Amino acid sequence: MVEPIRATTREEREAALAAAGWNVFQLAARDVELDLLTDSGTGAMSQAQWAALMLGDESYAGSESFRRFRAAVEDVLGFPFVVPAHQGRGAEGVFFGAVIDEGEIVPSNAHFDTTRAHIEIRGGIALDFPVREALDPGVWAPFKGDMDVQRLEELLAGPDGERVSIVMLTITNNAGGGQPVSLANVRAVAEVARAHGKKLVLDIARFAENAWFVKQREEGYADTPLPEIARALVADADAVLMSAKKDAIANIGGFVAIRDDEEFFHRLQMRGILSEGFPTYGGLAGRDLDAIAAGLREVLDEEYLRHRTEQVAFLGEALVEAGAAVVQPVGGHAVYVDAGATLPHVPVEAFPAWALSCELYLAGGVRAAEIGSVMAGRDPETGANRHPPLELLRLAIPRRVYTSRQLEHAADAMREILRDREAVQGYELVAEAPVLRHFTARFAPLDARMAEPAGGGQARA
Ligand code: F0G
Repeated sequence: MVEPIRATTREEREAALAAAGWNVFQLAARDVELDLLTDSGTGAMSQAQWAALMLGDESYAGSESFRRFRAAVEDVLGFPFVVPAHQGRGAEGVFFGAVIDEGEIVPSNAHFDTTRAHIEIRGGIALDFPVREALDPGVWAPFKGDMDVQRLEELLAGPDGERVSIVMLTITNNAGGGQPVSLANVRAVAEVARAHGKKLVLDIARFAENAWFVKQREEGYADTPLPEIARALVADADAVLMSAKKDAIANIGGFVAIRDDEEFFHRLQMRGILSEGFPTYGGLAGRDLDAIAAGLREVLDEEYLRHRTEQVAFLGEALVEAGAAVVQPVGGHAVYVDAGATLPHVPVEAFPAWALSCELYLAGGVRAAEIGSVMAGRDPETGANRHPPLELLRLAIPRRVYTSRQLEHAADAMREILRDREAVQGYELVAEAPVLRHFTARFAPLDARMAEPAGGGQARA
């Protein structure tokens, strides 16, 4: 599917961003030239998916589309019990509603923001146990998505261990740089969880990209077919949560799948009915279920995954050449710019990664997402801003959409910004929502030039 892209002038972008409260999430998509905000739901569907769409069976109950969807989940992942949901967070709502009580602790390699919100809003505590090297953006390590197994063991063996019923892993680790988790780490985490009688739950939004990195980087898997690696990654999990908007290359959808606990499955289905709909459509049209089924079956194609990861690596190299500090190695779906290191003169209180997101839009009409202090929100107990270890700007690449030449445009914009990096100033937060504030928050630039865009901003078209 070909979509039009509209060129804009710097003046137009300054006006658009000011009207958006200096928040790129609030921009109209028609004002964006290169949209690297997310890889979620933004992929281009294949001919097989468009064809599958036409087979959509829109029966309220027991549709053929659901039968095909369930078969694809079982064939690709090996989980027979599936509750569809309108997207990943819908699946999280269904799942965590059934497992989180007040005070429940959920350890993970790193929770994605919607996962954390679903746990915290129910009175749970979401803990991140990344491996040490994950916190050093300059260090190249093959599996920076791994969980620190020792910290997990200490939690489970300690006094708070009984407040844990599930252990999570996010593959790949989106909050931590899109880094993969090794098969060895999944197995080690599963073993510790099992030894303490806990369930293992995987967020598999990007399982195919994770499988690709296992094949490339983990000893002993170079000759293993990707479908086998994918099955091995989830083999120890009791449940998986999926946003089909990523590695099912669908524009919408998600699911919870569980292995064998039928009683729990029925509880999940009941919860799904409340928020997502009847258990054979889960907030989706029948045609969406068919597109997801086709996407799941094609995403493990080796040539596709090679192209995808090489494209991400290409953007990473171009940004390094442009002078940005880039988290190494680049992830499976995105390049994460270390904005703290790229703009060392902007203090974390002035949101350096947010500032870089605004600059990138102003310079080139490029939209990227902050993963820093704005997204981290406030501590639920103290109300203070949380400052994560890294202030990151994520340039996520939609699947099968852009050419590499288009990605070079993002690097050109970065080069232009960094030519005069000292001129980049931070932002002040002026309005925010209590949860997931980054989507709607409004800001004011601390930079006097930007405060009056019409007079002060130079028109560099
Ligand atoms: N889990 C992970 C690891 C995710 O990256 C996301 C979404 C979700 C769950 C929630 O899924 O969007 O379908 O409700 N990530 C998107 C992103 C929003 O841009 O990274 P959803």
